[in-house]
Amino acid sequence: MDTRSELQATVDAMAQPGKGLLAADESGPTIAKRFKTIGLESSEENRRAYRNLLLTTPGLGEFVSGVILYEETLGQKADDGTPFPQLSARNGIVPGIKVDLGKIPLALAPGDEITEGLDGLARRFVDYKRQGARFAKWRAVYNITASLPSRLAIEANADSLARYAAISQEAGIVPIVEPEVLMDGDHTIGRSAEVTEAVLHEVFNALHRHRVVLEHILLKPSMVLAGSEHAQQSSTADIAAHTVRILKRTVPSAVPGIVFLSGGQTPEEATANLDAMNRLGPLPWNLSFSYGRALQEPPLQAWKGQASNVKEAQAALLKRARLNSAAALGKYDASQEKS
Ligand code: 13P
Repeated sequence: MDTRSELQATVDAMAQPGKGLLAADESGPTIAKRFKTIGLESSEENRRAYRNLLLTTPGLGEFVSGVILYEETLGQKADDGTPFPQLSARNGIVPGIKVDLGKIPLALAPGDEITEGLDGLARRFVDYKRQGARFAKWRAVYNITASLPSRLAIEANADSLARYAAISQEAGIVPIVEPEVLMDGDHTIGRSAEVTEAVLHEVFNALHRHRVVLEHILLKPSMVLAGSEHAQQSSTADIAAHTVRILKRTVPSAVPGIVFLSGGQTPEEATANLDAMNRLGPLPWNLSFSYGRALQEPPLQAWKGQASNVKEAQAALLKRARLNSAAALGKYDASQEKS
């Protein structure tokens, strides 16, 4: 298959109406932080057992079209000996990989950050593809204060995201472009909207300059909402209205799918907000989820590292996947939370 057909086939399989992604790509330090909440040591076997639980959830493929894995998981095997990427693909879930190497302070720009990982990326893609990865993810992070992010941070991160996306497409791998405007801070929803608009505008400008084919990417943005320390927390209706307005201004309709991160929202909030946005349709893109915490918190807390809790944990994951699938169609009913 030529590269374009390959990218098209992958993006078609991922951006299916009513399906979203499971972000299970926590880095070593992040998964250790998550395991700490259940008093579990982050050993290689515990990480494998946890990812095994998630990926062997019966019926997950009905609601989830792709899973983002961390490099270590891409090379690990399920209980039955099947490598995780092959297991996912067999269940109708496209396997992908987080390829950025995390963020560091942006030089000469106090408070801003930049994501690393471009050097050698084309070479790394050869191995990832051989292991079964069909898409990739790169996360850029923007902190909000009265003066941040700086123009420099907005431009430098847009350039890195676009370079990554171009290298990814050349390798026949669909890039998920993730600019995350953090919800930490006491800023208003208006300030979040202003920053998100500037960030997305610059990202699409850079994607164009780097010749990235918009039909073959997915955008993974944050929702527009007041900072988590702001006195007035945003309502579902306000989050939906602000987010859709900013996306319409900045994201070309050639982009097939927008899959949100949850960023620290509770599982119920993340579902309700996605649903409210889809009820504002028709929208030019498929609007869905690529949640980490909002899908995994309930199963992680149910599991507690005990084999005897696996079934209960899988039921908790399947429930969130099912409710988010409904929200991706604007058909979520909050009364289903009790079932
Ligand atoms: P959260 O949904 O927990 O924000 O994680 C999504 C993700 O992939 C962050 O990079």
